Amino acid sequence: MKKAKILVTGGTGYIGSHTVVELQNKGFEVIIVDNLSNSHIEVLDGITEITGICPAFEQFNLCDSETTKSFFLKHKDIDAIIHFAAFKAVGESVEKPLKYYHNNLESLINILENIQSNGIKGLVFSSSCTVYGQPDELPVTEDAPIKKAFSPYGNTKQIAEEIISDFISINTDSKAIALRYFNPIGAHKSSKIGELPLGVPSNLVPFITQTAIGIRQQLNVFGNDYDTPDGTCIRDYINVVDLAKAHVVAVERIIENKNKQNFEVFNLGTGSGASVFEIINSFEKVTNKKLNYKVVARRAGDIEKVYADTKFANEELGWKAETSLEETLLSAWNWEKNYRAKVTK
Ligand code: UD1
Repeated sequence: MKKAKILVTGGTGYIGSHTVVELQNKGFEVIIVDNLSNSHIEVLDGITEITGICPAFEQFNLCDSETTKSFFLKHKDIDAIIHFAAFKAVGESVEKPLKYYHNNLESLINILENIQSNGIKGLVFSSSCTVYGQPDELPVTEDAPIKKAFSPYGNTKQIAEEIISDFISINTDSKAIALRYFNPIGAHKSSKIGELPLGVPSNLVPFITQTAIGIRQQLNVFGNDYDTPDGTCIRDYINVVDLAKAHVVAVERIIENKNKQNFEVFNLGTGSGASVFEIINSFEKVTNKKLNYKVVARRAGDIEKVYADTKFANEELGWKAETSLEETLLSAWNWEKNYRAKVTK
């Protein structure tokens, strides 16, 4: 039987590319739309080397409603959509809020309009644990209150979930699932795809691997005076391949009409927190590298601690994060080494 056809927006990005691999490994037909504003076309080579299949690819901006409409008219056989395409730099969103509201919300609205007119079964949406702010109770469950967003980026995720919820409540033939990611890290074990931040990384693990390889001189640890056992912030770091697999399960749930509600929300994390120092120590242990780091002042907007209650995703989706933190950090390091060796050749 022919497997479903999935549109993956942002499919050359970090989480998108890992998800395309898992979809193709399961026999799904994939078409990627990406404007390459924050990713590289060579990612398609990595996907092809891993899976033996080069996914279909179209380059355009989903904020352009006419082009988006023509795309859907041309591809009438799309069964479901996984929507990753979005800007994600928290700091930049504070500097340029309208850029974030335009890009992250207009593209979503254009997609939803076409779901409606093309009879597509539904949408899996990239959301974030940022919607919880600093939760009152940990681990945080999906029904924890949504706090005022810390950044325009975070606000686009909150508003997007509301837009989807409103849309689904009147378009009852369509289904949607929002996946609230905690902190995705690591790379595919082949080291053929991974995280490729443009410029100076703002996230912890790419900064660590770039420091270890010598591109950055020193890692700054943002504060060791938090109310946590070692004073550094705690996050729930989840392996990107485990995260990608959850998207396959979610899209299957939509296609097979297994949603219990038309709009569902799941946390995607491991259920355990790790501090910045714990990440540094594990990285040093698995790679045998000494990291040059220094404790500096807190970073504005950082949350003290957050980690997921994963019971709902474990039970309802039958999905669980499986890869250890050590293995994940090693995959990030192997990817960094492999990528740098390739680009300096
Ligand atoms: C942030 C966003 C999250 C978003 C993600 C994607 C918030 C609250 N969180 O996650 O929603 O999906 O970015 O980009 O908006 N750290 C250092 N030194 C560094 C970098 C980070 O000490 O050079 C520390 C941070 O203080 C934090 C931890 O490492 O405690 C993780 O930081 P980071 O990787 O940037 O992710 P978040 O801020 O948790």
